[in-house]
Amino acid sequence: MVRSISKLKGYDRVINCMPDKSISVRAVLFNAFAVGRATVKNLLLSDDVLSAIACARALGASVELDGDTAVISGAPFGGATLDCGNSGTTARLLIGLLSGLNGKYTITGDASLSSRPMRRVTEPLARMGAKLADTDGRLPIAITGSRLHGIDYDMPVASAQVKSALMLAALNASSPVTVREPAPTRDHSENMLAAMGATVKRGDGTVTIEPSVLRSKDITVPGDISSAAYPICLALAVSGGKCTVKNVGINPTRTGLIDVLRDCGADIEFSNVTTDVEPSADITVRHGKLRPFAIDGALVPRLIDEIPVLCALACFIDGVSVVRGAGELRVKETDRIATTVAALKALGADAEATDDGMTIRGGKPLKFGEVDPKLDHRIAMSAAVAGAAGAGVTVLDADCASVSYPNFYGEVIGD
Ligand code: S3P
Repeated sequence: MVRSISKLKGYDRVINCMPDKSISVRAVLFNAFAVGRATVKNLLLSDDVLSAIACARALGASVELDGDTAVISGAPFGGATLDCGNSGTTARLLIGLLSGLNGKYTITGDASLSSRPMRRVTEPLARMGAKLADTDGRLPIAITGSRLHGIDYDMPVASAQVKSALMLAALNASSPVTVREPAPTRDHSENMLAAMGATVKRGDGTVTIEPSVLRSKDITVPGDISSAAYPICLALAVSGGKCTVKNVGINPTRTGLIDVLRDCGADIEFSNVTTDVEPSADITVRHGKLRPFAIDGALVPRLIDEIPVLCALACFIDGVSVVRGAGELRVKETDRIATTVAALKALGADAEATDDGMTIRGGKPLKFGEVDPKLDHRIAMSAAVAGAAGAGVTVLDADCASVSYPNFYGEVIGD
């Protein structure tokens, strides 16, 4: 569906944060595999999580939905063909989990997911003894479950999905798996697997997981800071803007956005901080003059999904903002270096792609334009933020936002 968004005259909102996508997918898949029955509250009901639920059901687990509460009963998995839709997390985690189980499985996905690299998981899994047949390093992938052994693995890319796939493969292996990360990535799998009874040992840049039996665990999913990023950046971009996003997950492996915005001079306040399996807080931001940012190195995995909307915000900051060391953006749902730069240029921004990032020369007024997000939810929402704070925008296939943020336009943009 095509959506036309007008320039906002002001911005003053209180928003309940969308539940976290990474944690929702993990809560569904891990409990589907665990022994027992768990209640998952505040589950994100977005397309990606619905894909994870469909896969869990196809594998034999029971998932009963009542609003945003799911009651999940684990079951021994049987062979199946599993359509992961657009969800890279569902696909990569399942490849790891299923490699060490009995049965034959086929993993498929939509056109975007079928173009994304999978050797980053199949190669280390093959070293553990997995029997996998990929399609030129991509989906579909056929898995013949087999007995795996542990490995000590130096991950060449900082990827929580790869780390999680190997941790899940370790559960059923004959010996432990150690993964060494080039930079810290989100540790939701470590937190949830430990809470479900797995033996997880963290070292300096490493995680070791021993073969373990998972027990079901009741979980309340916190809000997704990647979704909170849109109203936060919009409030900061609109003159006089203000917003509070309630119940945002603030796991330190995910809060690179907050660190960058504070370095830019943003007025950001945390309140009502609570801790369950994961910490969360209400976040309030107020518009004010910002300095440009430079993102690089170990910060990148801590805000990888927020880079497109940060670059939208950079259009409203005087000076040159730079992203480097973010080549991973090229293998997301789209090549997000190309699609972010194309979207911002369509709105009149001075944006330039580099090999591993982009440069935005901000501070000059945007113009009205049309953006094709290429079915990438984060590009559609980032374009909507740039247009709402700028001079308006028409977003093609705007409903792709539902991959992570159902009702994004109603809640965040307000048209
Ligand atoms: C995710 C990890 C990140 C992130 C993705 C979700 C996860 O991907 O970009 O949206 O849930 O583990 P990579 O592991 O490929 O960096």
